[in-house]
Amino acid sequence: MSRIIAACNQKGGVGKTTTCVNTSAALAAMEKKVLLVDMDPQANATQGLGYDEGFDEDIYDALLLAESDLSREKIRTYIQPTSMPFLEILPCSRSLAGLEVQLMNQPQRERRLSKVLELIKADYDYILIDSPPSLSLLTLNVLTSADSVLIPIQCEYYALQGLAELLNTIRLVQQNLNPKLSIEGALLTMYDSRLNLSKQVAEDVQNTFSEKVFKTIIPRSVKLSEAPSFGKPIILYDVLSSGATKYMELAKEILQND
Ligand SMILES: Nc1ncnc2c1ncn2[C@@H]1O[C@H](COP(=O)(O)OP(=O)(O)OP(=O)(O)O)[C@@H](O)[C@H]1O
Ligand SMILES: [Mg+2]
Repeated sequence: MSRIIAACNQKGGVGKTTTCVNTSAALAAMEKKVLLVDMDPQANATQGLGYDEGFDEDIYDALLLAESDLSREKIRTYIQPTSMPFLEILPCSRSLAGLEVQLMNQPQRERRLSKVLELIKADYDYILIDSPPSLSLLTLNVLTSADSVLIPIQCEYYALQGLAELLNTIRLVQQNLNPKLSIEGALLTMYDSRLNLSKQVAEDVQNTFSEKVFKTIIPRSVKLSEAPSFGKPIILYDVLSSGATKYMELAKEILQND
């Protein structure tokens, strides 16, 4: 059965996109059929897999048409291949930023992405969704369509700030829009074992999420930050790097959560 996992944290720069791109690639390397959905108008996941923006049609069109005139065949024409045979992407361009205003008075505007994914869910083992650094209508769409949320947390001083707000939003979505939504896990990112601060954040996150923290911890790694500029996931850029190893471990943990 396929699963839809969303990376969410309204804090910017915590590793949502890096985690989506590299976990998708790791799952695809294990021959799981994966779709990465780029729901962030910054389009970093799209770029990270080697695409420039400028598609004729993309996730924006899918969301716009979701209430009226969308078929599985039509969405399939928006989906793009990647350099990995088991990984595809539903890309995004900056026009997605304007969607929120366009949907302002529309009914069921939080359920647009759900409707899109319902049409294609059966084609994949995993659908991963990258989300913007906000608790906007786009993020509500992401949370409403997902089976679970993966919360990347950067190991730095303000790491836990805003987390209460995120957890509250998740609770509200569970109560009102998507009762099946669960927490996949909190993921510590950019961990630096030399810093006491990293250890402190790891401890705080453990206390907040108890058993819902991934055992895998993503280290701070220059290779992980370089890979997107080559349009490649880390396992294609440097398969022997610590970042590649850790994202493979994370993918295995996700498989175990099935
Ligand atoms: N483990 C890591 N080690 C080193 N650099 C990293 C690591 N993870 C992410 N980065 C870098 O940190 C920056 C932020 O990461 P990323 O884009 O994944 O975060 P994000 O949460 O998606 O950001 P945004 O909120 O803007 O969408 C990027 O430049 C990325 O390359
Ligand atoms: Mg991002």
